[in-house]
Order: sequence, then structure tokens, then C-alpha cells
Amino acid sequence: MGEPTEFYATETWTAGIIGLGYVGLPLAITATNAGLPVIGLDIDATYVDRLRAGSSPIEDVPDEQLAAALAAGLEVTTDTDRLGDADAIFICVPSPLGRNREPDLSYIKAAAETIRRVAHPNLLVSLESTTYPGTTEDVIVPVVLDAGLTLDQNVWVAFSPERVSPGDELKIADIPKVVGGVTPASTAVATAAYERLVASVHPVSSAAAAEMAKLLENTYRAVNIGLANEMSQLAEALGIDIWEVIDAAATKPFGFQAFYPGPGVGGHCIPLDPQFLAWRAREANFATRFIDLAEQVNVAQPGYTADRISALMNEQRLPVNGSEILGVGIAYKPNIADDRESASIEVLRELEAKGAVVSVLDPVVGRKRIEEHGFVAVDPGDDLSRFALAAVLTDHDDIDYAALAAAVPMVFDARGTYRARGLSAPNVHAL
Ligand SMILES: NC(=O)c1ccc[n+]([C@@H]2O[C@H](COP(=O)([O-])OP(=O)(O)OC[C@H]3O[C@@H](n4cnc5c(N)ncnc54)[C@H](O)[C@@H]3O)[C@@H](O)[C@H]2O)c1
Repeated sequence: MGEPTEFYATETWTAGIIGLGYVGLPLAITATNAGLPVIGLDIDATYVDRLRAGSSPIEDVPDEQLAAALAAGLEVTTDTDRLGDADAIFICVPSPLGRNREPDLSYIKAAAETIRRVAHPNLLVSLESTTYPGTTEDVIVPVVLDAGLTLDQNVWVAFSPERVSPGDELKIADIPKVVGGVTPASTAVATAAYERLVASVHPVSSAAAAEMAKLLENTYRAVNIGLANEMSQLAEALGIDIWEVIDAAATKPFGFQAFYPGPGVGGHCIPLDPQFLAWRAREANFATRFIDLAEQVNVAQPGYTADRISALMNEQRLPVNGSEILGVGIAYKPNIADDRESASIEVLRELEAKGAVVSVLDPVVGRKRIEEHGFVAVDPGDDLSRFALAAVLTDHDDIDYAALAAAVPMVFDARGTYRARGLSAPNVHAL
């Protein structure tokens, strides 16, 4: 192999990717586009068949892009043995929280077991799944050592957090990548490998630093969204328009980044990632007060939003109980179909608990999924006259908000949608 950094910087090495979801599939395509042979492994056979047929389940990966990568040699398989050909293996499997908000490492451990089976000398292993600081050392290193390999001689192990942002234009090749190895040589080798894939790599001195950097990024967002949510509640109590306040503060050219209130936090990153840090902190007997406070505010926000909707209806002498309410947008963020951990759904469940009859308009998530949640699905263009109120909970671009305000007696805008689009109507009330 020669010098390993030289090898990964210049040779045509084979990339193996475990898990071909939101993170792994774009990475597989990025590596293929970089001119490397790529073997993508997933345990879900139906899913792999779909990928093989060129049908992409991920919005950010158009079918044409997948088809082009397959034509360029991207291999997708359920056969773990195929990873035996890989010179570098990237782990992109889920890392959820367990029932008691503790890290569920079962997927990472299963991927590590796959690596144990296929491990061979001259191998780089990089974990990309979000997790607590120490996981790469605790879970990946023992497995490669157990497979008979020797760190820094014929195996290098690193963590590199994934920063893909579903629904955004930014492609992973353009997003700077943090890379931390379990040894300095591992950092150097992983950096050389990632420099083949992305425009900019930021090496750090340990895998744990890279693991914590990812958690800091998302904790920063959770805390600031929590602050925006609390400020919006305060502004309401003081009779001040929070949206006007934030827009005014955002004119400061330094020292302020605008975060906006909403119905709560959603998705599988912002609500979850700070909990990895909180869990690790508990083990070290350390209290993470900012994380706990942000969690407290953000978790209460769907209930607060539902209460604001009830109060608005009450002002109009309308009961929530028995009224038809339209939820607009149930994805966790605009312009994507992913509704995991969506706060919008929490708001609608709260309204149902108060007796409302809830329907949902979300052309991005689609009828099938809306009905799976037990809501009545409404299509764009349907007659909306039966609804007492429409609550804009996720502001997809694909919705005619002016027409919505004209079609229903009241709109509750939990996202500042109308203001952001320069629209106004007397029956639109912002969070
Ligand atoms: N989706 C995001 O926006 C995002 C952003 C940054 C980080 N992350 C992190 O990246 C990791 C992956 O997330 P994702 O959103 O891509 O998940 P995902 O659920 O979209 O995809 C994971 C894939 O891994 C496959 N898989 C599970 N166990 C496997 C195994 N043992 N062998 C082979 N395949 C296996 C699943 O079948 C699935 O297709 C998580 O740790 C997540 O927190 C996600």
C-alpha cells in the first residue's frame, strides 16, 4: 500500500458504505462522482431493489442522479461480503435514542459486527452516525482490534459527522467536513480520504472532539430555537409582535443570528442530538442546564401553540370541541416529506384531544402518509369552506397562502409564513 495518506490521497481506492439512507446514499453518490468505485450496503432488500431500479427514496437525490451513479459503477447490495473489497468503510446507519432517552447503539454495533467479518489489512473505518463522544473509541476500535488488525499499522479509525441538510440546495461535497481520528495517524489518513470527496476538511485531534462538534452544532440550534420560543411567549404576554422584534434585531450586522419561534422542534436531529450529550454528561456527573432548559421549552411548545389556537377561536366565540380545523404542513421542516418527530403533528394531536376534527393539507408529505397518521387528507384546490380555522404549521413553498387565507375564516400562522412572503390579511394571526 505504501504510505497510507498517499494511497488515500492519490490511488483509486474502493469506498464501502454501510446504510444507504439520507446520509449514506448522498455519500455513495458523492464518492462515485469523485471517480471512486463504491459498494453501498443496506440490510433492507426491498429498499436495495428500489435503488437498483434507479428510483431514489431521498428527495435530495433525484432519480437521474442515482441512475447516473449506477451507470458509473455504483454497486448497491445486501451482500455484506462485498464490503471485503472496500479500502475504506463509512458507517451511516441510524442512531436513535432508546425508551429512556439513552443512546441506542444497536445499529452502530451491528455495522461494527459487519466490519469485523470483512476486516482486512489496510482499511480505514469512519463512523458518520451521530452519537455521544467516545463511541468510536468504545465500539469501533475494539472490533477492528479483535479482527486482528493493528491501529496505525494496517487500520485507521475516525469519526466524521454528517452535516447533510435535507431539502437544502447545499450538496455534501460543498459542506466542510470535520474529521477526527482515534490516533493522529488515523486523523491524517481519514483527512486524505475525505479530501477526495469534499471540497474542505477540518481535521481535529480526536474522534471524541469530532463527535462532540456535531452535538454542539445541533445543541446550539436547539437552545436558540428554545430561546426564540420563550421570547415569543413573552412577547405575546407583553402585546409585542415577536416577528417584528426578530427582524429588527437581525439588522445588526454582527453578534446576532436570527432564530424563529415555531410549533416546536422536529426531525431526527434537533430534538435528539442534544440528548446524546446530556446522557454522556450524566455519566460524568455533569448537569447540562442549557440542554435541559431548551428541551423543556421546546417540548412544551406544541401544547402552547394548541392553546394559542384555542384562545383565538375562543375570541371568535368558537369552540375547539367539534370544530373542523385544517393543519397545513406536517413535515418537520419545509419542502421535505419527512415527518419524523414533527412538532406539527403534536399540535394537531393536542387539538384533537380538545375535541377538534382535524384534517391535513400537505402536498409534499402526501395523502397516504397523512392517512397513516389517522388524519383526513385534503388536496390543494379542495373546498375549504367547512374549516373554522387553518393552522400553518410547516411552511412548504408549494402552497398558495393568499388563497388559503381567502378560503377560511381564520388562519393561525405558527411559522411567520405570511410575513416572510410579504402577505397580509386581517384574518391571519401569527404565533
Ligand atoms: N438525515 C439527516 O439529515 C442526518 C443529518 C446528519 C446526521 N444524521 C445521522 O446519520 C445517521 C444515519 O441517518 P439517516 O437519516 O441516513 O438514516 P436512514 O434511516 O435514512 O438510513 C439508514 C439506513 O441504514 C440501513 N441500515 C440499518 N442497519 C444497517 C446495517 N446493520 N447494515 C446495513 N444497513 C443498515 C437502513 O436500512 C437504512 O436504509 C444517523 O446517525 C443520523 O443521526 C442524519
